[in-house]
Amino acid sequence: MTLRRCGERRGQGRAGLLLGVMAAGLFLAPAAAGAQEMTLYSARKEELIRPALEAFQKETGIRVTLLTGGAGELARRIELERANPKGDVFLGTAAGITELLRQKGLLESYASPNAGEIPEEFRAADHAWVGITGRVRVLIYNTGRVPAGEAPQSYFDLTAPRWKGQVAVASLGERTTVSWLATLLALKGEEATRKYVDALRANGLKVLKNNTEVRHAVARGEVAVGITNHYYYMLQLQEDPRSPITLVYPDQGPGDMGTPVFSITAAIIRGAPHPAEARALIDFLLKPAGNRLLVEGEFEIPLLPNVALAGADRGIRGLGQFKKAPVTQVQLADLEPKVERLFGSVFLP
Ligand SMILES: [Fe+2]
Repeated sequence: MTLRRCGERRGQGRAGLLLGVMAAGLFLAPAAAGAQEMTLYSARKEELIRPALEAFQKETGIRVTLLTGGAGELARRIELERANPKGDVFLGTAAGITELLRQKGLLESYASPNAGEIPEEFRAADHAWVGITGRVRVLIYNTGRVPAGEAPQSYFDLTAPRWKGQVAVASLGERTTVSWLATLLALKGEEATRKYVDALRANGLKVLKNNTEVRHAVARGEVAVGITNHYYYMLQLQEDPRSPITLVYPDQGPGDMGTPVFSITAAIIRGAPHPAEARALIDFLLKPAGNRLLVEGEFEIPLLPNVALAGADRGIRGLGQFKKAPVTQVQLADLEPKVERLFGSVFLP
């Protein structure tokens, strides 16, 4: 597997990556003439998808060049390369940007035989993209600062005086913050969502750069509560098993909207130079043996019924084990430009 990072400067960053690659034993010799290869553009971090890609290479002999970067950054690159595509598969962190690429005609439809069991709400109707795993938008809180009985049970609790200056969320640089606000727009409408965001701000909401900063701020007790994705709870425990944090699936009551679920999406880039290899990767990521590696490596939840949940012993719940916010990924994608328009200036780090 060869690694690059989109937009990366020469020097330290590159050297660091190369070191990481060599240390992990991934620095493969150049492919022999005629060997199969492909390029993956991934908005998912390298360390999280590495196990799945290694297994794919081992099983198929297809050599993967991995280019990681922000979803927007990679999407712009795909658009610029339209006449002469260099990437084969795009992995997005939420459906929004992937759906935008589909609307611009930049994706190739592919109905993988393994996609049949992915619920329809996590797929594009024309098979231009497919959800491969899910992430759940939860609350995490510091158990040293919040007794269990006082934990917030709803996003809408967080505007109360009790939580003044005590709540953190990541900026819109994290696509899942965009998806979360899109969920509120879809289910509560524009006026209520604006009012809610205004009330959060008036209550001293802290907007941090990314979700990693959010989990650190909660674990250190700098804030009591974080609005983030469920796997950041697992990543925090992996980093420090004694972290005083736990998670809540918010808005689970009878009249409540439910907890949002977003999907990682995979898509083949139109005009991909290695279409057969691209299809093979999608098939691999959607078959239980390959999908399991994503779920375990990323602590994501499976969208496939025959893949086991990771982290159940730590309170992670799978699809069907909590009340899910009733929105489709396409609905969320369609609302993302509106989120940027309405809240782009608010959710800055
Ligand atoms: Fe993330």
